[in-house]
Amino acid sequence: MEIVTDHLCRYKNYNFPIGLTNEEHLDSLQSFVIRDSDIFLVTYPKSGTIWTQQIIISICELGGGLNEYPNNSEQMPWIEYIKEQDDYSVRPSPRLFSSHLTPALMPPELMDKKGKIIYVMRNPKDIISSFYHFNKVCVVLETPKNFESLFEQFLAGNVLGCSWFDHIREWHLKKDQYNILFLTYEEMILDLKSAVIKICRFLEKNLSAAAIEQVVEKSTFKTMKKDFKANYEFLPPERMTGNFMRKGQIGDWKNIFTAAQSEKVDKLIQEKLGDLSLKFIWE
Ligand code: A3P
Repeated sequence: MEIVTDHLCRYKNYNFPIGLTNEEHLDSLQSFVIRDSDIFLVTYPKSGTIWTQQIIISICELGGGLNEYPNNSEQMPWIEYIKEQDDYSVRPSPRLFSSHLTPALMPPELMDKKGKIIYVMRNPKDIISSFYHFNKVCVVLETPKNFESLFEQFLAGNVLGCSWFDHIREWHLKKDQYNILFLTYEEMILDLKSAVIKICRFLEKNLSAAAIEQVVEKSTFKTMKKDFKANYEFLPPERMTGNFMRKGQIGDWKNIFTAAQSEKVDKLIQEKLGDLSLKFIWE
Protein backbone atom coordinates (compact mmCIF):
# COMPACT_ATOMS: atom_id res chain seq x y z
CA MET A 1 0.00 0.00 0.00
CA GLU A 2 1.20 3.46 -0.79
CA ILE A 3 1.70 5.65 2.28
CA VAL A 4 0.15 9.04 1.49
CA THR A 5 0.32 10.87 4.82
CA ASP A 6 1.29 10.04 8.42
CA HIS A 7 -2.24 8.73 8.89
CA LEU A 8 -3.46 7.44 5.52
CA CYS A 9 -2.37 4.78 3.06
CA ARG A 10 -3.82 4.26 -0.41
CA TYR A 11 -4.90 1.13 -2.23
CA LYS A 12 -6.71 1.16 -5.58
CA ASN A 13 -7.50 4.88 -5.34
CA TYR A 14 -8.95 4.58 -1.86
CA ASN A 15 -7.49 5.99 1.39
CA PHE A 16 -7.45 3.82 4.51
CA PRO A 17 -6.28 4.69 8.02
CA ILE A 18 -2.84 3.19 8.59
CA GLY A 19 -2.89 -0.02 10.63
CA LEU A 20 -6.52 -1.09 10.19
CA THR A 21 -6.22 -3.06 6.96
CA ASN A 22 -3.76 -4.32 4.35
CA GLU A 23 -3.62 -5.39 0.69
CA GLU A 24 -4.05 -9.06 1.48
CA HIS A 25 -7.26 -8.43 3.41
CA LEU A 26 -8.66 -6.09 0.75
CA ASP A 27 -7.81 -8.56 -2.01
CA SER A 28 -9.54 -11.33 -0.07
CA LEU A 29 -12.81 -9.38 -0.41
CA GLN A 30 -12.71 -10.24 -4.11
CA SER A 31 -13.50 -13.85 -3.21
CA PHE A 32 -15.81 -13.08 -0.27
CA VAL A 33 -18.73 -15.52 -0.55
CA ILE A 34 -22.07 -13.70 -0.38
CA ARG A 35 -25.25 -15.28 0.97
CA ASP A 36 -28.69 -14.22 -0.26
CA SER A 37 -29.55 -13.21 3.30
CA ASP A 38 -26.55 -10.86 3.70
CA ILE A 39 -27.34 -7.19 4.33
CA PHE A 40 -24.72 -4.54 3.56
CA LEU A 41 -24.88 -0.91 4.60
CA VAL A 42 -22.72 1.23 2.31
CA THR A 43 -22.00 4.90 2.93
CA TYR A 44 -19.43 7.57 2.34
CA PRO A 45 -18.01 8.35 5.83
CA LYS A 46 -20.08 10.76 7.98
CA SER A 47 -23.29 10.12 6.05
CA GLY A 48 -25.23 8.51 8.90
CA THR A 49 -23.61 5.07 9.04
CA ILE A 50 -23.98 4.34 12.75
CA TRP A 51 -27.53 5.67 12.67
CA THR A 52 -28.55 3.36 9.82
CA GLN A 53 -26.72 0.48 11.52
CA GLN A 54 -29.00 0.97 14.52
CA ILE A 55 -32.11 1.00 12.30
CA ILE A 56 -31.14 -2.15 10.40
CA ILE A 57 -30.07 -4.02 13.55
CA SER A 58 -33.29 -3.06 15.36
CA ILE A 59 -35.41 -4.17 12.39
CA CYS A 60 -33.59 -7.52 12.20
CA GLU A 61 -33.76 -8.04 15.97
CA LEU A 62 -37.50 -7.40 16.06
CA GLY A 63 -37.92 -9.43 12.87
CA GLY A 64 -36.48 -12.38 14.84
CA GLY A 65 -33.52 -14.72 14.51
CA LEU A 66 -30.60 -12.31 14.83
CA ASN A 67 -27.51 -13.58 16.59
CA GLU A 68 -26.49 -11.02 19.24
CA TYR A 69 -23.09 -9.34 19.49
CA PRO A 70 -21.82 -7.03 22.24
CA ASN A 71 -22.26 -3.81 20.25
CA ASN A 72 -23.27 -2.49 16.83
CA SER A 73 -19.70 -2.44 15.54
CA GLU A 74 -19.34 -6.16 16.15
CA GLN A 75 -22.91 -6.86 15.02
CA MET A 76 -22.38 -5.02 11.74
CA PRO A 77 -18.61 -4.86 11.13
CA TRP A 78 -16.91 -2.86 8.37
CA ILE A 79 -15.67 -5.49 5.92
CA GLU A 80 -12.64 -3.46 4.86
CA TYR A 81 -11.00 -3.59 8.29
CA ILE A 82 -9.21 -6.62 9.71
CA LYS A 83 -10.91 -8.34 12.64
CA GLU A 84 -8.45 -11.05 13.66
CA GLN A 85 -10.83 -13.03 15.86
CA ASP A 86 -13.78 -12.96 13.51
CA ASP A 87 -14.30 -15.47 10.73
CA TYR A 88 -17.34 -14.12 8.87
CA SER A 89 -17.75 -17.36 6.91
CA VAL A 90 -18.99 -19.10 10.06
CA ARG A 91 -21.34 -16.35 11.21
CA PRO A 92 -24.97 -17.41 11.34
CA SER A 93 -27.38 -15.79 8.86
CA PRO A 94 -28.52 -13.14 8.49
CA ARG A 95 -25.10 -11.52 8.46
CA LEU A 96 -24.99 -7.73 8.66
CA PHE A 97 -22.03 -5.75 7.32
CA SER A 98 -21.03 -2.13 6.91
CA SER A 99 -18.66 -0.60 4.40
CA HIS A 100 -17.43 2.72 3.07
CA LEU A 101 -15.93 1.09 -0.03
CA THR A 102 -16.50 1.84 -3.70
CA PRO A 103 -17.97 -0.87 -6.01
CA ALA A 104 -14.52 -1.82 -7.36
CA LEU A 105 -13.35 -2.92 -3.89
CA MET A 106 -16.57 -4.64 -2.81
CA PRO A 107 -17.16 -8.41 -3.09
CA PRO A 108 -18.05 -8.97 -6.76
CA GLU A 109 -20.67 -11.62 -5.93
CA LEU A 110 -22.93 -8.75 -4.82
CA MET A 111 -23.21 -7.92 -8.51
CA ASP A 112 -25.14 -11.16 -9.05
CA LYS A 113 -27.84 -9.40 -6.99
CA LYS A 114 -27.05 -11.75 -4.15
CA GLY A 115 -27.52 -10.05 -0.80
CA LYS A 116 -28.97 -6.60 -0.27
CA ILE A 117 -27.28 -3.19 -0.09
CA ILE A 118 -28.62 -0.08 1.60
CA TYR A 119 -26.75 3.01 0.42
CA VAL A 120 -27.14 6.20 2.46
CA MET A 121 -26.18 9.64 1.09
CA ARG A 122 -25.89 12.98 2.86
CA ASN A 123 -25.41 16.59 1.83
CA PRO A 124 -21.64 16.84 1.22
CA LYS A 125 -21.58 20.20 3.01
CA ASP A 126 -22.82 18.57 6.20
CA ILE A 127 -20.40 15.69 5.62
CA ILE A 128 -17.50 18.17 5.45
CA SER A 129 -18.63 19.86 8.65
CA SER A 130 -19.07 16.48 10.38
CA PHE A 131 -15.70 15.24 9.04
CA TYR A 132 -13.95 18.33 10.38
CA HIS A 133 -15.14 17.64 13.92
CA PHE A 134 -14.65 13.87 13.59
CA ASN A 135 -11.05 14.24 12.40
CA LYS A 136 -10.29 16.10 15.62
CA VAL A 137 -11.50 13.28 17.89
CA CYS A 138 -10.66 10.18 15.85
CA VAL A 139 -7.13 9.27 16.87
CA VAL A 140 -6.23 7.33 13.70
CA LEU A 141 -6.96 10.41 11.55
CA GLU A 142 -5.00 13.61 11.15
CA THR A 143 -6.19 16.58 13.22
CA PRO A 144 -7.02 19.29 10.67
CA LYS A 145 -4.96 22.49 10.83
CA ASN A 146 -8.15 24.48 10.31
CA PHE A 147 -11.48 24.18 8.52
CA GLU A 148 -10.15 25.63 5.28
CA SER A 149 -7.48 22.93 4.95
CA LEU A 150 -9.93 20.09 5.70
CA PHE A 151 -12.36 21.60 3.18
CA GLU A 152 -9.74 21.57 0.42
CA GLN A 153 -8.51 18.08 1.34
CA PHE A 154 -12.09 16.81 1.17
CA LEU A 155 -12.72 18.30 -2.26
CA ALA A 156 -9.49 16.75 -3.52
CA GLY A 157 -10.46 13.35 -2.07
CA ASN A 158 -7.45 13.41 0.27
CA VAL A 159 -9.36 12.25 3.34
CA LEU A 160 -10.37 8.86 4.72
CA GLY A 161 -12.12 7.13 1.80
CA CYS A 162 -12.02 8.80 -1.58
CA SER A 163 -13.69 11.70 -3.34
CA TRP A 164 -17.34 11.99 -2.24
CA PHE A 165 -18.22 12.81 -5.85
CA ASP A 166 -16.59 9.58 -7.10
CA HIS A 167 -18.33 7.52 -4.42
CA ILE A 168 -21.78 8.84 -5.33
CA ARG A 169 -21.03 8.56 -9.04
CA GLU A 170 -19.68 4.99 -8.95
CA TRP A 171 -22.56 3.61 -6.88
CA HIS A 172 -25.20 5.30 -9.01
CA LEU A 173 -23.62 4.23 -12.29
CA LYS A 174 -23.47 0.60 -11.12
CA LYS A 175 -26.85 0.56 -9.37
CA ASP A 176 -28.58 -1.77 -11.84
CA GLN A 177 -26.04 -4.49 -11.10
CA TYR A 178 -26.95 -4.58 -7.41
CA ASN A 179 -29.95 -5.23 -5.23
CA ILE A 180 -29.70 -1.76 -3.73
CA LEU A 181 -31.86 0.79 -1.90
CA PHE A 182 -30.80 4.44 -1.92
CA LEU A 183 -31.73 6.63 1.04
CA THR A 184 -30.66 10.03 2.26
CA TYR A 185 -29.75 11.20 5.74
CA GLU A 186 -32.07 14.15 5.17
CA GLU A 187 -35.15 12.01 4.46
CA MET A 188 -34.37 10.03 7.62
CA ILE A 189 -34.23 13.27 9.63
CA LEU A 190 -37.43 14.62 8.10
CA ASP A 191 -39.49 11.42 8.45
CA LEU A 192 -37.74 8.61 10.29
CA LYS A 193 -40.81 6.38 10.38
CA SER A 194 -41.24 6.46 6.59
CA ALA A 195 -37.54 5.64 6.18
CA VAL A 196 -37.88 2.69 8.58
CA ILE A 197 -40.90 1.41 6.63
CA LYS A 198 -38.96 1.75 3.37
CA ILE A 199 -36.06 -0.25 4.82
CA CYS A 200 -38.44 -2.93 6.18
CA ARG A 201 -40.00 -3.34 2.75
CA PHE A 202 -36.64 -3.61 1.07
CA LEU A 203 -35.41 -6.16 3.61
CA GLU A 204 -38.72 -8.04 3.34
CA LYS A 205 -39.28 -7.74 7.09
CA ASN A 206 -42.93 -7.66 7.90
CA LEU A 207 -42.96 -5.76 11.19
CA SER A 208 -46.13 -4.84 13.10
CA ALA A 209 -47.00 -1.15 13.53
CA ALA A 210 -45.88 -1.40 17.17
CA ALA A 211 -42.54 -2.94 16.19
CA ILE A 212 -41.97 -0.16 13.64
CA GLU A 213 -42.60 2.40 16.37
CA GLN A 214 -40.06 0.57 18.53
CA VAL A 215 -37.43 0.74 15.78
CA VAL A 216 -38.09 4.48 15.39
CA GLU A 217 -37.78 5.03 19.14
CA LYS A 218 -34.53 3.03 19.36
CA SER A 219 -33.05 5.05 16.48
CA THR A 220 -33.74 8.63 17.55
CA PHE A 221 -30.65 10.73 18.27
CA LYS A 222 -31.76 11.09 21.89
CA THR A 223 -32.18 7.36 22.50
CA MET A 224 -29.05 6.37 20.60
CA LYS A 225 -26.97 8.86 22.57
CA LYS A 226 -27.76 6.82 25.71
CA ASP A 227 -27.50 3.41 24.05
CA PHE A 228 -24.02 2.07 24.78
CA LYS A 229 -24.28 -0.64 22.10
CA ALA A 230 -25.09 1.97 19.45
CA ASN A 231 -23.32 5.24 20.30
CA TYR A 232 -19.71 4.06 19.82
CA GLU A 233 -18.66 5.32 23.22
CA PHE A 234 -17.39 1.76 23.67
CA LEU A 235 -14.42 2.68 21.47
CA PRO A 236 -11.30 2.95 23.63
CA PRO A 237 -9.58 6.35 24.17
CA GLU A 238 -6.72 5.24 21.92
CA ARG A 239 -9.28 5.23 19.06
CA MET A 240 -11.65 8.08 19.97
CA THR A 241 -11.30 11.06 22.28
CA GLY A 242 -14.78 12.53 21.66
CA ASN A 243 -18.28 11.66 20.52
CA PHE A 244 -19.18 9.91 17.30
CA MET A 245 -22.70 11.24 17.79
CA ARG A 246 -22.28 15.00 17.67
CA LYS A 247 -25.25 17.15 16.57
CA GLY A 248 -27.28 14.95 14.22
CA GLN A 249 -28.81 17.82 12.29
CA ILE A 250 -29.38 19.08 8.77
CA GLY A 251 -27.60 22.30 7.81
CA ASP A 252 -24.91 22.56 10.49
CA TRP A 253 -22.54 23.46 7.61
CA LYS A 254 -24.06 26.97 7.66
CA ASN A 255 -22.28 27.60 10.95
CA ILE A 256 -18.85 27.05 9.45
CA PHE A 257 -18.90 27.54 5.64
CA THR A 258 -18.20 30.82 3.90
CA ALA A 259 -20.51 31.79 1.02
CA ALA A 260 -17.64 31.11 -1.40
CA GLN A 261 -17.11 27.59 -0.01
CA SER A 262 -20.80 26.82 -0.35
CA GLU A 263 -20.81 28.01 -3.96
CA LYS A 264 -17.71 25.97 -4.71
CA VAL A 265 -19.42 22.77 -3.55
CA ASP A 266 -22.59 23.59 -5.52
CA LYS A 267 -20.52 24.14 -8.64
CA LEU A 268 -18.64 20.86 -8.20
CA ILE A 269 -21.86 18.90 -7.68
CA GLN A 270 -23.12 20.30 -10.95
CA GLU A 271 -19.83 19.66 -12.78
CA LYS A 272 -19.15 16.18 -11.46
CA LEU A 273 -22.64 14.74 -11.00
CA GLY A 274 -24.88 16.95 -13.13
CA ASP A 275 -25.16 14.35 -15.89
CA LEU A 276 -26.55 11.67 -13.56
CA SER A 277 -29.98 13.33 -13.29
CA LEU A 278 -29.98 12.79 -9.54
CA LYS A 279 -32.35 14.89 -7.52
CA PHE A 280 -30.60 15.87 -4.30
CA ILE A 281 -32.95 17.31 -1.72
CA TRP A 282 -30.72 18.35 1.14
CA GLU A 283 -32.89 20.80 3.03
P1 A3P B 1 -22.82 15.20 12.84
O1 A3P B 1 -21.34 15.17 13.02
O2 A3P B 1 -23.23 16.19 11.78
O3 A3P B 1 -23.57 15.41 14.11
P2 A3P B 1 -21.28 8.31 10.42
O4 A3P B 1 -21.95 7.36 11.34
O5 A3P B 1 -21.45 7.96 8.97
O6 A3P B 1 -19.86 8.56 10.81
O7 A3P B 1 -22.05 9.71 10.56
C1 A3P B 1 -22.00 10.43 11.76
C2 A3P B 1 -23.04 11.52 11.71
O8 A3P B 1 -24.34 10.93 11.91
C3 A3P B 1 -22.84 12.53 12.83
O9 A3P B 1 -23.28 13.79 12.28
C4 A3P B 1 -23.80 12.00 13.89
O10 A3P B 1 -24.17 12.96 14.84
C5 A3P B 1 -24.98 11.58 13.00
N1 A3P B 1 -25.91 10.65 13.68
C6 A3P B 1 -25.63 9.53 14.36
N2 A3P B 1 -26.76 9.00 14.89
C7 A3P B 1 -27.78 9.82 14.52
C8 A3P B 1 -29.19 9.82 14.77
N3 A3P B 1 -29.79 8.88 15.50
N4 A3P B 1 -29.92 10.82 14.24
C9 A3P B 1 -29.34 11.79 13.50
N5 A3P B 1 -28.01 11.84 13.23
C10 A3P B 1 -27.24 10.87 13.74
